[in-house]
Amino acid sequence: MSPPHIAVYGATGHTGRLVAADLRDRGAEVILAGRDGNALKAMSEELSGALVHEAALDEPASLRDLAGSADVLIHCAGPFTDTGRALATAAAQAGCHYVDHALEQHHTKWMFDTMGRPAREAGITMVTAMSFYGGLGDLLAGAAAAGMTGVDRVITAYSVTGWRLTTGARKTAELLFADTRRITYTDGAEHVGYVEPRNAVFPFPPPLGPRTMIAPVPFPEVVTVPRHVAARQVEAQLTAHTFEEEQAFTSEHVDAATRAGSHFTVAAQVITPDGNRAGQARGHDLWRMSALASVEAAVRLAGGRGPGPGVFGPAEAFPAEPFLRDLERLGLFRLTLQEER
Ligand SMILES: NC(=O)c1ccc[n+]([C@@H]2O[C@H](COP(=O)([O-])OP(=O)(O)OC[C@H]3O[C@@H](n4cnc5c(N)ncnc54)[C@H](OP(=O)(O)O)[C@@H]3O)[C@@H](O)[C@H]2O)c1
Repeated sequence: MSPPHIAVYGATGHTGRLVAADLRDRGAEVILAGRDGNALKAMSEELSGALVHEAALDEPASLRDLAGSADVLIHCAGPFTDTGRALATAAAQAGCHYVDHALEQHHTKWMFDTMGRPAREAGITMVTAMSFYGGLGDLLAGAAAAGMTGVDRVITAYSVTGWRLTTGARKTAELLFADTRRITYTDGAEHVGYVEPRNAVFPFPPPLGPRTMIAPVPFPEVVTVPRHVAARQVEAQLTAHTFEEEQAFTSEHVDAATRAGSHFTVAAQVITPDGNRAGQARGHDLWRMSALASVEAAVRLAGGRGPGPGVFGPAEAFPAEPFLRDLERLGLFRLTLQEER
């Protein structure tokens, strides 16, 4: 069987490089894509001759050609607020499966609201928010809530230390926190409007223990989780400490090895009147975790192991616990699922 052709848009960025390297290790034919031809050629030489496709966002025909040459397109160039529509549209027009790393709530909502029909007509699967922030929370919520009914609240909580933001991540974070049209999910419905973040305490299990959290943070679980868990309220939270670390916003140019030094615990708590369930992933290097999650999704889609045509969040696209167990086997984190009474 010939190896799948997988295009990586934004291949020269930190996430794109990790994605391309892992695809190569898995034997895929990688197409390095983006707007900077020279940087792509240099990267191709480093990878002993991967295919290259230069295309800017305002070149729709060239983006369609790119998608037409691939079985799956992994979109790694953010902010997705700026780049998401061009690539998703090209993938649907060319009939190419699509996976993205979006953190932005509004891009994720746009994918569900706008791309469902084109995806179904093209017979392709589009998976949005398949990454660390947003994606891991959605998968943990799906795994913890499996089989539960009467769910009152789902909280996804991220404890992160040593996060050194890239240029793309810094721009994305600035856009997110400046956006006053935040999506929240309360009383079983989506709402859009400004929400003043509060300080909350999330009870991470030992050894971490209770932590002060920014709540809510504008992550996409409010859009993805209600699609597979019938909850009254969904909220994402992030440790306040994460952004208090001085190096978070001043490390755009650190090397990859330094960037790999992040540590995380991500928990999803599913609360019902009769008891709670929780899922937890504890690991290191959130960038690598992001990259490998998208590769795992792309390899499954290329191999015909997707949910069929349409737009999906991570835990809708793939059975959540088996998907997480496969990532756990790659050594990315330790997964724990438990009942709480
Ligand atoms: N949800 C998560 O947990 C998660 C995890 C990882 C990444 N992400 C998201 O993925 C995105 C990339 O992150 P990163 O760490 O890889 O950032 P990065 O290292 O700064 O790389 C960004 C890449 O995107 C390209 N790019 C940016 N704007 C573009 C545009 N307008 N047109 C074409 N290409 C463009 C850049 O190309 P140039 O070099 O030509 O500028 C570069 O290749 C960010 O939005 C980040 O938030 C999310």
